[in-house]
Amino acid sequence: MADKTPQKKILVIHGPNLNMLGKREPHIYGHQSLDEIDGQLIEAGKQLGIDVEAFQSNHEGAIVDRIQQAIGNCHGIIINPAAYTHTSVAIRDAIAMLDIPVIEIHLSNIHNRESFRHHSMIADIVAARIAGFGSHGYILGLEGLAKIL
Ligand code: DQA
Repeated sequence: MADKTPQKKILVIHGPNLNMLGKREPHIYGHQSLDEIDGQLIEAGKQLGIDVEAFQSNHEGAIVDRIQQAIGNCHGIIINPAAYTHTSVAIRDAIAMLDIPVIEIHLSNIHNRESFRHHSMIADIVAARIAGFGSHGYILGLEGLAKIL
């Protein structure tokens, strides 16, 4: 029997306050809940032959821990670091030590919002960035990552 190529595994990381999607400033972040978004990603992953695991935390250190755990276990990461995008050297350092592609996602277009949102601590070390497509950005990120892999 021919060997089956092992299924690719993608980790999706959602940062602080994204657990409140659907209720949180829906005019900016949309009406979908995080569970709905994760469900769609898992389904889209099945179509692409990718195993999608989702993780959310409001805590910087927990996100760093999860990124470290991905080493040797995941083929790629999709991350929306939320507010930590703009502040976290720790998350940047954790991503910098990976040798797998990382895609940065934002629901909103961070560049047409307040100036403090314009800077991303990870912009220069990720494989690609998507912002402004709402929750569809995650699907676009997954499809892009599938192509890279
Ligand atoms: C966000 C944009 C960030 O500036 C903000 O702090 C978030 C969400 C986005 O998805 O648009 O929490 O990352």
